[in-house]
Formats: sequence, structure tokens, C-alpha cells
Amino acid sequence: MIILGIETSCDETACAVVENGRKILSNVIFSQIALHKKTGGVVPEVAAREHVTKIVPVLNEALKKAHVKAEGIDAFAVTAGPGLLSSLLIGVNAAMTLAKIYKKPLVPVNHVEGHIYANWLEDEENVTLSLLKGHHDKPKFPAVVLTVSGGHNELLLWKNHGKYEFLGSTLDDAAGEAFDKVARLLGLSYPGGPAIQEAAKKGDPNKTAFPRAWLKGWDFSFSGLKTAVLYAVQNFKKKNPTARESEQFVYDAAASFQEAVCEVLATKLINAAKKYDVKEVQLAGGVSANARLRHFAEKLTPPNVKLRFCKNFSLCTDNAAMIATAGFYKFSKRPAKYKKWEPIAANPNLEMKNW
Ligand code: KG4
Ligand code: ZN
Repeated sequence: MIILGIETSCDETACAVVENGRKILSNVIFSQIALHKKTGGVVPEVAAREHVTKIVPVLNEALKKAHVKAEGIDAFAVTAGPGLLSSLLIGVNAAMTLAKIYKKPLVPVNHVEGHIYANWLEDEENVTLSLLKGHHDKPKFPAVVLTVSGGHNELLLWKNHGKYEFLGSTLDDAAGEAFDKVARLLGLSYPGGPAIQEAAKKGDPNKTAFPRAWLKGWDFSFSGLKTAVLYAVQNFKKKNPTARESEQFVYDAAASFQEAVCEVLATKLINAAKKYDVKEVQLAGGVSANARLRHFAEKLTPPNVKLRFCKNFSLCTDNAAMIATAGFYKFSKRPAKYKKWEPIAANPNLEMKNW
């Protein structure tokens, strides 16, 4: 079964063609990062206008690269939320139109669920750590999944396709949001995650013991940490530092901040894995591209449990292959439900909790 996925929830216009939920035939992403660097973040109106002009070329490119015609697509899957409403609407309307014209099933996908399903994609670089036989094995249930992105930060017990037990989420900022905001405080570029990771290479992760919020249960909190970085920046500036000292301060603060975030995320993830006696531990979402987070997860995962994440960075951040895959498993479970064309409501606040 060939599914065309569409993703426009934030600042990436993406279309992908995936066969049988796992094989990527094409995965085209038009990133708006260069545009949003100017403002240091995404301006929704600007993002939506860009989606409007890019959606058709990206769609055509995805079909061309997959060597399929639109008529050859068996179903369309699209991100229905969460995300920016004006951005979501572009993808949702494109998918509704395609499904109507070609009389094919239409599957709405939760963006966070898409990130989770990225771990199902076969990819030459999508290697499973601690796995010695080949890397195209299917994930095993139950798994505990940490979804960490700019807009979401959740811990889920994944029992089977479409069956999740929600364990916890952030009470304030998502980890990616904290990376982006702290990068701004430190004068680093957008998006903050990769910029902090790069700066941290030249810094000392133990220079400042930034606070770790060890909340009871499975929730997270990063606002106290963000405020601690702000105070550290303000205090440092009062000392009238030299340019060289300022540079080193940014490296050290980036490394110490990254250490605090990644230690908390990985420790809670692995504690949940032990408590629920899972077969796999999975990282998903943009922040799962972070090398320090991967390092902590590798260090803490018990030897009998498999650690899985997308080694290919472009599958960690927003893409449409993950949407096509999630759409495939959703459709396979209840095909009759999606065969009749029904309008999809774009929902900026769609939650995994009630999905
Ligand atoms: O999944 P994604 O592309 O979009 C959302 O659904 O939010 O994630 C984007 C987020 C941004 O906050 C970005 O700073 C963060 O993922 N990110 C990283 C890294 N690469 C991207 N955070 C930490 N380290 C990275 N290497
Ligand atoms: Zn995302």
C-alpha cells in the first residue's frame, strides 16, 4: 500500500511517499529555517504564506522522486494538529482536495504520533543501537517513548499500534522550546537546539550546576532552568567581561544547560522503562537529534532493552514520511473508517492525551 503523507504544522513544507508503512520512496522537505532566522523564531503568518507557495512544488517533487503518479497513491495522510493553525490548514486542505479528486482514503494524523512512528521507517541510516543483526527490524511493544520537540515533551507507554498510556508531559516549556529560548538568551542562532549543541562542544558541562527539576511522577519542567540561565547571563554581564571571556561563557553555559536538560530527560525515560518493564526505549522528535541526549540514553538503557531513535537527523525533525507511516498503521487498523471522504478539522491543540 502506497501512502502520500503531508506535513505543514510549523515551518517545514513536507510531502513523502511511503510503501507499506516502512519503506521511504521519497521524502521531500522544504525548510523555512533561513526565512525564520531573521526573526529568531517562526512568525505564523509568514510560515503559512510560504506553505501556500511551496506545497504544490513539494508535492510534485515527492511524486516524481517516488516514480508514482497521483493516481497510484492508495491513501493520503496529513497532520491535523497540533501546530500553527494557519500552517496546518494548508496541508489539510491539500490532502482533502487530493483525496476527493482521486477518490482515495484520507487519514488525519497527530503530529506527535507521527514523530513516534518515524522510528518504524526503514532507512539506511536509521540504525538501532544495541542491535547487532541488521537494522530494519520492527520495533517491539511495549515501548516507552520520549517525544521531545519544540512544541511537545511527552512520556508515553506504547502498548500497541494506536494504544498509548500517557505517563507525563512538561508543565511549562517543551525541551526544544527551552533550547530555542536559551539560545536566544545566549545570542545563538535559530533553531536553538543545533546551535547549543555546537557551542557546547567547546564548553564545560560542569561549569555551572544549573537546577534539575526532579518532579515526582513522570512530568517535566524547564522554566526554572531557563530562568537560572537568564540570571547567570545577567550576573556575568555585570562583570564587564572581555570578548574572549564572553565567548567562553556562552560555550560553558550552553554545555551546562544541555547537560541539565538531557540528564533529566534520559533519567526519567529510563526510570519509566524499568518501572514498566518494556522491550524498547525510544526517542522521538527534533530534540532526539541531540548527541548528548542520545549519549545519556545509551549509558542508562539496561542491556536487555533496545534503544531506538532515528539516526538520520532529517527523520527526527519534522518530515512527512513519519506522517505517511503513522497514517498507514492507523488506516490498517480501521480501513472502513477512512474510506468515506470526510472533511478534516485542523486542530492546533490536538493532544496525544486524548488521541
Ligand atoms: O520536531 P521538530 O522539528 O518540530 C516540532 O515539532 O517542534 O523539533 C524542532 C525542535 C526545535 O526546538 C529545535 O531547537 C530542536 O527540535 N532540535 C534540537 C536539535 N535539533 C533540533 N534540540 C537539541 N539538539 C539538537 N541537535
Ligand atoms: Zn515536530
